[in-house]
Amino acid sequence: MKNICVFASGTGSNFDSIVNESKQGVLQANVVLLVSDRPTSAVVSKANHNQIDTFVFNPKDYSSKAEFEIAILKELYERNVELIVLAGYMRLIGDTLLKAYPKRILNIHPSLLPHYKGKDAVGQAMKDHATITGVTIHFVDEGMDTGDIIMQEELSIVSLNTRKEIEEKIHAIEHRIYPQVINKVLEELS
Ligand code: GRF
Repeated sequence: MKNICVFASGTGSNFDSIVNESKQGVLQANVVLLVSDRPTSAVVSKANHNQIDTFVFNPKDYSSKAEFEIAILKELYERNVELIVLAGYMRLIGDTLLKAYPKRILNIHPSLLPHYKGKDAVGQAMKDHATITGVTIHFVDEGMDTGDIIMQEELSIVSLNTRKEIEEKIHAIEHRIYPQVINKVLEELS
């Protein structure tokens, strides 16, 4: 069984689903660490509740991205983390982590990339009167939502009228496909 780490800064619904799938043995991995740059975020409470170790930091306490990524790396190495899974971590990953974990960092994004990169992808799709959006899981590179795509799933939003309805459907897709993709990537590592 391989060890994985989740990076998240928000509500943590994906974190929850990953942890639950791991507990049920559907996800063939141990979630050994949560990394978060937002001490007050709900995801940190969720990790504490599940007795999962956390590394919670304030970027302002470090002089550079390299410096806080070195601190993260130490935590990852101490726990033999083999794969990093981003789930609502709102920062670009820097060289330090990218070099230490090549093709071993995944991200999930609530659009069909390359459409609607960056913040508030659902809002961007709504503003654009899109009829279809979806979810993308991709490897992380130095860009914003630009790495090689591993899996995408479409969602028709023609009959969905509110942001809440769209977000619920997006989350349902995310919670279903992220553990599947993590399993697949982990299998390919071994
Ligand atoms: C998800 O929609 C994910 O696609 C994006 O951030 C959101 C995190 O949601 N990267 P949650 O905190 O897992 O509920």
